[in-house]
Amino acid sequence: MATLTYYGHSTWALDTKGTMVLIDPFLTGNTRTQVAAASLSPSFIIVTHAHGDHYGDTVDLAKRTGALVIANFEIANYAQKQGVANAHAMHIGGGHEFPFGRVKLTPALHGSSFPDGAYGGMPAGILLEVEGKRVYDAGDTALFSDMRLIGEGGLDVALLPIGDNFTMGPDDAAKAAKLLGARTVIPQHYNTWPLIAQDPQQFKRLVESSTDSRVAILEPGDRFEIR
Ligand code: NI
Ligand code: MN
Repeated sequence: MATLTYYGHSTWALDTKGTMVLIDPFLTGNTRTQVAAASLSPSFIIVTHAHGDHYGDTVDLAKRTGALVIANFEIANYAQKQGVANAHAMHIGGGHEFPFGRVKLTPALHGSSFPDGAYGGMPAGILLEVEGKRVYDAGDTALFSDMRLIGEGGLDVALLPIGDNFTMGPDDAAKAAKLLGARTVIPQHYNTWPLIAQDPQQFKRLVESSTDSRVAILEPGDRFEIR
C-alpha cells in the first residue's frame, strides 16, 4: 500500500513498493521538521514550482542520490544547469508514466521564480496515479473552478494549501475541497511561519460540515496510508 509521510509545509514522501518519491523537498529551513535532507534517499523528486520553499533541497538531494527530478521544462533545465544529472521535463496538462506511477502536471494560480529571480516557468499542481490510487497535490495556488475537472474520475487524497496570504486560505480551500470531491483532504502549507498560521482543526470542521470529504490532519513525521 502506498503511503504519504509529511515533513511539514508542503513536503511529502510518497512511498510505493519500496520506492520513495519526494515532493517539494523543502527540508533545510523548514521550521516544521527536524529531518535533514541528508537522511532521505528518494529515487524521484517532483517539484511543483521554483519557489525556495518547494524547490528546496532538490539539487543536493538529486546530486547525492541520482534521483530523477520531475518538473516543468524550466525547472528541469535549471536543475540540470545546477548539476542535476537526471531530470524529466514536463508541462502543464501533460502526463507521463514513470516506473512508480503516472504524473500529470495541473494548473496552479501562483508564481514560480527561483530564489535568484530566474524564471521558473508556470507553477503546477500534481495529479498522481499510484497503485490504483489518485492523489492530487494542489501545490501553491488560489482557488479556481477547474478544480472540478481535476476531481473528475475521483480522488483518494487531495493535499490543499490553507495558509492564506500566499495561497488559498481555509475558506477557499474548503471550496476547493467541494469542487475536488476527494475522499480525504489533507491540509498543507500552514504554520511554517507566523504569516501562514492557521488552525487545521477549524479547517477540518469547515470541510466536514460542507462537503462529503474527511480531513486528515498530519503532524510532521506522520504517515498516511492511501487506502
Ligand atoms: Ni510558492
Ligand atoms: Mn510556498
